[in-house]
Amino acid sequence: MRLLSDTDADISLAAQSLKAGELVAFPTETVYGLGADAFNPSAIAKVFEAKKRPYFDPLIIHIADADSLERIADLSTLDAAVLKKVETLTGSLWPGPLTLILPKKSLIPDIATSGLKSLALRLPAHPVARKLIRLSTGAVAAPSANRFGCLSPTRAAHVQEQLEGGIDFIIDGGRTGLGLESTILDLCSGLPRILRPGGCSREAIEELIGRVEASPAPGGIPADPPRPSAPGQLKSHYAPRTPLSVYTRLEMIEAPPEAGTIYLFFDGVSRETWLARYAPLLPPSCPVHTLSETGDTLDAAAVLFDLLHNLDRLSLKAIRAELAPELKLGPAINDRLRRAAVR
Ligand code: TXA
Ligand code: MG
Repeated sequence: MRLLSDTDADISLAAQSLKAGELVAFPTETVYGLGADAFNPSAIAKVFEAKKRPYFDPLIIHIADADSLERIADLSTLDAAVLKKVETLTGSLWPGPLTLILPKKSLIPDIATSGLKSLALRLPAHPVARKLIRLSTGAVAAPSANRFGCLSPTRAAHVQEQLEGGIDFIIDGGRTGLGLESTILDLCSGLPRILRPGGCSREAIEELIGRVEASPAPGGIPADPPRPSAPGQLKSHYAPRTPLSVYTRLEMIEAPPEAGTIYLFFDGVSRETWLARYAPLLPPSCPVHTLSETGDTLDAAAVLFDLLHNLDRLSLKAIRAELAPELKLGPAINDRLRRAAVR
C-alpha cells in the first residue's frame, strides 16, 4: 500500500492505477471511499474482498459530472414526473452528499450492483474525488473505505488502520468535511424513499420535490433479513469496538457517572446540566465529550465518526451517547449511533 498526496501528479498516478484494475482509497466530502473502475468486474471483486463485504451489498457508482448520469443510468423507463424529480435534484443538490437509486444500464457489471436492476449513483463534491474520477474511466465504484461493519473513515489514517494490505493506494486529502455518508434516495419505486439518512437532509430534498418516505422510519432500525432484497441496510454497522448505547437527553442527564464509561453528549446544554448535578461524583479521568457545543447538527455530523474513532482507542468499558434532535442531520446522526449500538 502506498500513501499518495492530493497533488495533480499523485491523483493522475492513482487514476492510471484505477484504469489498470487496482484499488485506490480517496477522500470525498462525506467519508473516504475505496474505489475501483466501475466497468471492471475483477477490480470490483477486489473491493468486496478488501472490505470483507458480502457480495449481496451493492456499491455506489461515483461520477465526476452530471452529464455522465445517462451513460450509466437508464432513464428511459422512468415516467415524466420522476424524470423531472431527477432533474430537479441533480440540478440543485449535485455535486453533493445525495446518492440516487436509478435503473441501471448494462455496461455496469452485475457484481457492482449485486445483481440488481437498479444502481446507486453519486456525484461527489470533493475536488480530489472528481479529478480522480475524471482522469480514470469516468465511473468509480466505491463503498466507504472501512472494513465491513466498522466505523467509516474520515481520515486517510483510518483507512490505513482498517484496510492496510488489501489495497494499492490511499490519497490523503485530510479530514473529510461532512463526516457522514451520503443520503440514499430511491427513485425507482413509487414515492421517493430515503433508504439511508445522510449528509443531505430530508428537509432539503422535500423542499425541492415534495414529500418523500423514509425507510427505516425515523427512530426505527429494521431487523436484518437473511439476505436483504432491498439491500443496504444491515442493522449492525458503523460499530466501534467499545460497546455503545444510546439514550434520550433525559436519560443522559439523569444517569449518575460510572467508572470506565465515556459520556458523549449532543450539546453543551445537556453536558452542563449533567455536570451541574454530578461533577462531584465524577470518577477520575472520566471522558466527557460533546458533539456540538451549540447543538448544530451539521457540526455534530462532521465530528461524529472522527470522535468515535478516537474514543474507541481509549479501550474503556462503554460509551453512553445522547441522541440528536430529529431534524436536519439529526436523523442521520441517530441512524449511525443506533447502528453502532446494535451488537
Ligand atoms: O457518502 C457515501 O455515500 C460514501 C462515499 C464513499 O461516497 N459511500 C458509501 O458507500 O457510504 P457504502 O457502500 O458504504 O454504502 C452504500 C449503500 C449500501 O448500504 C448499499 O447497500 C446501498 O448503498 N446501495 C447500493 N446500491 C443500491 C441499490 N441499487 N439499491 C439500494 N441500495 C443500494
Ligand atoms: Mg459503508
